[in-house]
Parts: sequence; structure tokens; C-alpha cells
Amino acid sequence: SQHRMRRMSRPPSLEPSLYRDHLALLQQGAEAALAATGHEALVIASGIEKFAFLDDRPYGFQPNPHFKHWVPLNQHPHSWLAVRPGRKLRVVVHLPADFWHVPPSPPTGEWVEAVELVVIREPDEAVAALKDVLGPRTAVIGEADAALPGLVPTNPEALLHRLHWARACKTPWELAQMRAASRRAAPAHLAARDAFLAGASEAEIHRAYLVASHHTDRDLPYANIVGLNEHAAVLHYQHQDEARPLQSRSLLLDAGAQVNGYASDITRTWAAPGHAEFAGLITLMDHEQQALVAEVREGRDYRDIHLSSHQRLAPVLLESGLARPGTSAEALVAQQVTHAFYPHGIGHLLGLQVHDIGGHMASELGGTREKPAGHPYLRLTRTLAPGMVVTIEPGLYFIPMLLDRLRTSPAASLVDWATVERLTPYGGIRIEDDVVCGSGAEAPENLTREAFAACA
Ligand code: GLY
Ligand code: MN
Ligand code: MN
Repeated sequence: SQHRMRRMSRPPSLEPSLYRDHLALLQQGAEAALAATGHEALVIASGIEKFAFLDDRPYGFQPNPHFKHWVPLNQHPHSWLAVRPGRKLRVVVHLPADFWHVPPSPPTGEWVEAVELVVIREPDEAVAALKDVLGPRTAVIGEADAALPGLVPTNPEALLHRLHWARACKTPWELAQMRAASRRAAPAHLAARDAFLAGASEAEIHRAYLVASHHTDRDLPYANIVGLNEHAAVLHYQHQDEARPLQSRSLLLDAGAQVNGYASDITRTWAAPGHAEFAGLITLMDHEQQALVAEVREGRDYRDIHLSSHQRLAPVLLESGLARPGTSAEALVAQQVTHAFYPHGIGHLLGLQVHDIGGHMASELGGTREKPAGHPYLRLTRTLAPGMVVTIEPGLYFIPMLLDRLRTSPAASLVDWATVERLTPYGGIRIEDDVVCGSGAEAPENLTREAFAACA
């Protein structure tokens, strides 16, 4: 086509490229962080495979997130990067000559042109491939197990702090990957819902999700949480029953996808037909969830969004009849009734890791920004800035352990226990979207809702 011919006749380096811009931004940030911390160069290990005890079977490879920040390589243990001021990124890729496994494929894609590529066949060849970069003022980031003679991770804290701090704000290329990660997950959530409505078991729903997301268990960004009925009350429910329940009343599915190493983290809760009371509760929660998403703005303290989620849950308890009529919303928060129904944080940073690092940092120098008193599970306490991607995931659960405690506390009189008992067989509700903070008063971009809208 004409389009293709035009592309081919232009020198590739003149093409606008989100990836090259991303690389330039990372380079700029790394150079500043190196200068500020007294380093001359940065070497990053991809990591190594880990093996089961007394066994030759590896666990799934988990790359160093610092590594996949620079290059979209997920499955390349024993590989390295070298970042030097004013120089091209050097990528040392381990491509073993091995007839037992499929070797990692030789790198392809536009990123290959933007870097200096070195292929090694044995892990310890990395030392020679990086010899000119290594020195007393070279920082080496990686897990201790990745060490080679003469190439030992030092993980300097001051440098890590600066890199972790900056990572919260995504580049346009990263946002494009995260948009795609939500788009990969949304149709799979709908396929899972359809399986649920057809009476499928948790394991069958999980498999329907895998098929529709084109994922295997090995490349999901985190283990799917598939809870039918009471299992929806277990926050990180880790099993998937093969057996179908006698009756499927509710499904809570927390499942993501990944694209080039970037995750989506999405939860939807569904009610089976004929379960109007629980369906109504989902609708109430969905409203409040969207109001909380709208609170994602530049300059907003994320802790305040978390506190706001408790303020917003109280009227839901009243409207659904879970709280006794005449109870004040303030009392439900002050007496920690909302805590009993909603014991986790409103969300977290998202990106290269599902719970991206740096959520509690006070500044790029490190330190801790405290969680609000009485909210020990909040994973993000920073002030929001443009390009940050966070989840917004309020919940409302019927967790026997927490409700038993509430029932014997002075706040028990604020609760309508008959309604609690009617709804307990549904487990609970979580609704989780991935949200990009905009600039100034700009509304946030809801990656997840846009992905679901595109399915319609
Ligand atoms: N999928 C884990 C979480 O929502 O944080
Ligand atoms: Mn989450
Ligand atoms: Mn989740």
C-alpha cells in the first residue's frame, strides 16, 4: 500500500516513535539520578530463573522490573542493560544455544534499532560484554542471585529511590501499553461473566478468561481471583474449585492482562439473574466507584481518596439496609463499621508490577509518607501527579471473621443483621478500574471503562 511504501522510503530514525521518546525520557531521568548520586553508569540485570528445592524444574521467570522498564523483554534471564550518559543503551541479551528448550527469540521490533545490541550464548559472557562499563562508580541493579564474578549487584539505595519515585508517572509509550493491557482484559472479563451465567465452576470461568485474553497462566500479571458466592468474601481467594456450585449467585473476578510487561488489574462483580437485592448493591457500589475515579486529579492526596471511599461507603450501607435506618453516616465511619465491610485500601500504583513500587515514598530521596491512622493496608500515600496510573477498587464484603467481631462490639446496634445474613451468601463486591491522572483540573482517563466500552 501507499502507506507502507511511504514508511519504507523514510529513514526509520525520522519516524515519530513513542518508544524512542520513552527511551529518551528514561535516559534523561537516569542521567540526572546518576549525577545526583555520584555514579557514572548504570547496569541492570534481567534476573535469573529460580528452581524448586532439590529439583530441576524452574518457577516462572519474573524479570527485574527495572530491566523491562527499558526494553520490552519479559522472558530473557541472564540478560543485562548498560546505561551511560550520552551513549546509546546497550542491551546484552542471553540467547543460549540449547536443544532442551526453545531459546528466547532473537529480539525484533523497533526498539532493536534504538539500542546497541550484544548477543551472548553463556551467562558469564555478560562480564566481558560489560567490561568497559564496569567500575567503582557503576551502579548495578539486580537481585543478589544474578551476581557473576566481577559483576555484583550493589543496588544503591539513593539511586533506587530516585528511579522508583519517577516510575510512578508513566511515559506516553507506557500509557499505550497499559491501554492495551486493559483492552486485552476487558473482553475476557465479559467471557468469564458469560461462563458464570451459564453455571460454570471457578476453574471453568478461569479457563474461559484465559481463552478470551489469549493468556496462559504463565503470562498473567498476577494469579486470577475467581470467587463464586461466599468465596467472593476472601480478598485474595487463591483456589479455583473444579466443581460447579449447586447455585451460582455471584461472581467476583479480579483478573488482569499484560502487554510488553505492563499490567492491567481489573475486578468486576456480577449477580446471577433473579438476585435483585445483590444486583442493587452492585449498582450502588458502581456509582460510588465512579465518583472515586473522578477524584483522581493532579495534586490530590491519594490518602484523601481512600478516606473518601469510607465516607462514600456509609450511605451505601444505609441505602441497602445494611445499616439501621436513622444511623448517621458519620457514626458508621467513626465507629469503624465501614472498616468491617471494607478492610483494604482503595488502591495502588500500577505499571511494571501489579503493585508498583514506591507507593509510600515521601520524596525522591526516600522516606515514608505515613498511612492514615487505622488504615494499615493502604498501598499508596502519595500526592497524585500527571501520568500516574492508579487503581480505584472499593469493596463491600461479608467476611465472617470481621462481622463476628463487629457483632460483639458496641457498634453492633448500627447494623441490620438480618440484611447482613441475607447478603452473606453472595460473598462481596469489588469494582476495580485502572486510572490515569491528568494535568491540573483535567478529568482522569479510565483505561478500564474505555476498554469495556470498546467491547460493546
Ligand atoms: N489483584 C490484586 C489487587 O487488586 O490489588
Ligand atoms: Mn489492585
Ligand atoms: Mn485486582
